[in-house]
Amino acid sequence: MREVHREIGGWLKPLGAPASIDAAGNLRALYPAQAQTAPRLLIGSHLDTVPNAGRYDGILGVVLAIALVESLEQRTLPFAIEIVGFSEEEGVRFRTPFIGSRALVGRLDDSVLSVRDADGISVRQAIEEFGLHPAEIPQARVSENIIGYLEFHIEQGPVLEQLGIPLAAVEAIVGQTRAEFVFTGRANHAGTTPMNLRADAIAGAAEWITAVEHEANTTPGLLATVGSVQTFPGAANVIAGEARLTLDVRFADDEIRAKAAAKLTHQAKHIAQRRGLSVTSILHMNQPAVAMDPFLVRQIELAIQKAGCKLHRMASGAGHDAMILAERVPSAMIFLRTPGGISHNPAESVEVQDVEKAIECGIHLLDQLSGDPAFLMRTQRA
Ligand code: HGY
Ligand code: MN
Ligand code: MN
Repeated sequence: MREVHREIGGWLKPLGAPASIDAAGNLRALYPAQAQTAPRLLIGSHLDTVPNAGRYDGILGVVLAIALVESLEQRTLPFAIEIVGFSEEEGVRFRTPFIGSRALVGRLDDSVLSVRDADGISVRQAIEEFGLHPAEIPQARVSENIIGYLEFHIEQGPVLEQLGIPLAAVEAIVGQTRAEFVFTGRANHAGTTPMNLRADAIAGAAEWITAVEHEANTTPGLLATVGSVQTFPGAANVIAGEARLTLDVRFADDEIRAKAAAKLTHQAKHIAQRRGLSVTSILHMNQPAVAMDPFLVRQIELAIQKAGCKLHRMASGAGHDAMILAERVPSAMIFLRTPGGISHNPAESVEVQDVEKAIECGIHLLDQLSGDPAFLMRTQRA
């Protein structure tokens, strides 16, 4: 991440937008406006990613923000552009996403700073080890005069490719539940323990994983995923004593999502009981669905049209920092087509001409917002 900050800082310096790293590890850079007191438009995305990732999730949104500033060729606008490269959006290391963006809305509090990674290192310690100072986190909050947040991001799904269009305006981001379930049985000898005397944690977890899949298959639109299974002791001739699983549930309707998560927790307990296992669960995140700012969504659609593209509005199944910023700042996203709908995978890609269209759309957007006095008067939500 240090190298990424250095590389991106090198791109920003010649543009007159020197980069700094805030106390939550976010890269921040300000491209000034005509007047010192001018409001700010925030544009960016996240710089972290997932294991075995593609090369566009997150970083493309930061590169596009820089490309838009570059396209101004030192021209100033009635608002400053603050570029942000968020840290820790994915939640891989600490199983808790949106750590960087929470700092911008004043939500990076002790409940998050005390979360520990697999080695027992807390978020607070990781920040200190990176050479940053948790006491300065309050200074990472967005300034009072932020009037909007825009995020360009790959769709990470098949919709735009199926429609044959390069861009979409995102009107909402679905809610997500992230949790961890630990099934505990009794490790024992695989060759001497009769089947009826076993407390097999992997077998119990496997039954529950099919229950998770069944719940999603029978609830139209609900997505539920067990993305990681860690077993102990993990030897071929030992009946597993422990199976640690992650659960990720996504849906546009928060009530149905909460009901599904509660039902899956109940089923885990029922399966465990029947099999002589115990099961515990930890809720890492319950993020409600978030609507994007209607004014900005409309402006994005106008800009997409001016870029000569067909219009499409859609919800995002993937979570994004925009859902955190939206608590304080009018926020909206522009999706770029994802060939093959493949993401969180080295095969993730973009079409070069779609990236060109995204830049064209962004230039129209800056133009539209610069010429809209009502927009320039907006301030962040109280
Ligand atoms: O997992 C997600 O929703 C996104 O990739 N952070
Ligand atoms: Mn991602
Ligand atoms: Mn992302």
